[in-house]
Amino acid sequence: MTLDSDFIRAQFPAFAEPSLQGQAFFENAGGSYTAGAVIDRLTRYYHQRKVQPYAPYEASQLAGAEMDEARSRLAAMMGVDTDELSFGPSTTQNTYVLAQAFRQHLQPGDAIIVTNQDHEANTGPWRRLADAGIEVREWQIDPATGHLPLERLQALLTGPVKLVCFPHCSNVVGEVNPVAEISRMAHDAGAVTCVDGVSYAPHGFVDVAALGADIYLFSAYKTYGPHQGIMVIRRELGMALPNQAHYFNAEVLYKRFTPAGPDHAQIAACAGMADYIDAFAAHHGGGGLDAKGRAALTHQLMRDHETALLQPLLDYLGTRNEVRVLGPHQAENRAPTVALQTEARGEVLARALARHGIMAGGGDFYALRALGAMGADADHGVLRLSFVHYTTRAEVDQLIAALDQVL
Ligand SMILES: Cc1ncc(COP(=O)(O)O)c(C=O)c1O
Repeated sequence: MTLDSDFIRAQFPAFAEPSLQGQAFFENAGGSYTAGAVIDRLTRYYHQRKVQPYAPYEASQLAGAEMDEARSRLAAMMGVDTDELSFGPSTTQNTYVLAQAFRQHLQPGDAIIVTNQDHEANTGPWRRLADAGIEVREWQIDPATGHLPLERLQALLTGPVKLVCFPHCSNVVGEVNPVAEISRMAHDAGAVTCVDGVSYAPHGFVDVAALGADIYLFSAYKTYGPHQGIMVIRRELGMALPNQAHYFNAEVLYKRFTPAGPDHAQIAACAGMADYIDAFAAHHGGGGLDAKGRAALTHQLMRDHETALLQPLLDYLGTRNEVRVLGPHQAENRAPTVALQTEARGEVLARALARHGIMAGGGDFYALRALGAMGADADHGVLRLSFVHYTTRAEVDQLIAALDQVL
């Protein structure tokens, strides 16, 4: 079965927005368009339920119930218990809170592994544990390809390693890392894993239990939702790490790593992401499946569609000798997030593309370590072209025609 693009695009008000007509969106890795179901819930919340939730009056009951609904439906899609999923202001803020918990949890002399493939959000906060006497080991990418070799990880997994932090896929390399295999290797060595799923989650909601990740992080504003960070922490680890919230919330797993007051409206609106996935699945014959099955079906449809659109773009870029494509040149096992090292500055090319109706980004994308390791000057920046399942072949063709003009 193939994805019905007309149906998909009808779920996103941006595609009907007059001011955006004729412009093709290729900066989805920065933040996706928002599903109509999310916007509707946000609007309803602010109109009808914008009161302190969980009080006895009706508006408040509805507000609290909608926040609970968001957590329970997203958790069900991702194969975890409802209280294993929590919301925080952003993934970066979530990793800082988690790093603080590990700072208290680990002993001087313990070791952690970080990569130089990650966005800074899943590496910088962890590296600061060195200040507390924790040994920080770097799992390094291959400079030519950006690939994270498993044998290098294996060599680092010796002695008192307690934590391995790595991305499901990097926001400039695009290669999908084998999370289940890496988690297995870490667990065999007595370590837990913290996976940055921010770049991958827009391409499908994963079954976290099947992947074996102990922590899985992503950002709802890139998965068709509002500006929230979402954190899955498996129970055993979450209850073992020191509580970072008020002392009286220590027994509630989903509150332990979210010390700040949550954004009630945005959390409630996250239920719209589940509405979107459910409508998407139902339209493609998956109405009878359970939540995890609906997520799996839509994940597969997204990936098939994206892979089919990505290969022509990679093939075209392969014909341009002056351009270096970072990461794999084959669409399979790759997210459609393609960073290009070019003679012109990334942001200059992005500006030129804008004149051709292409919305793309240039810069370092907070992946300075990965760019540096691959010999790409972060100041000079790369041009990044990123799309998701709502993108069409016509838009990719428009992009290729525009690249022909500006490269
Ligand atoms: C791969 C990756 N990880 C983490 C982040 C940080 O997410 P947030 O903006 O929610 O802090 C980003 C943001 O662009 C990202 O691309």
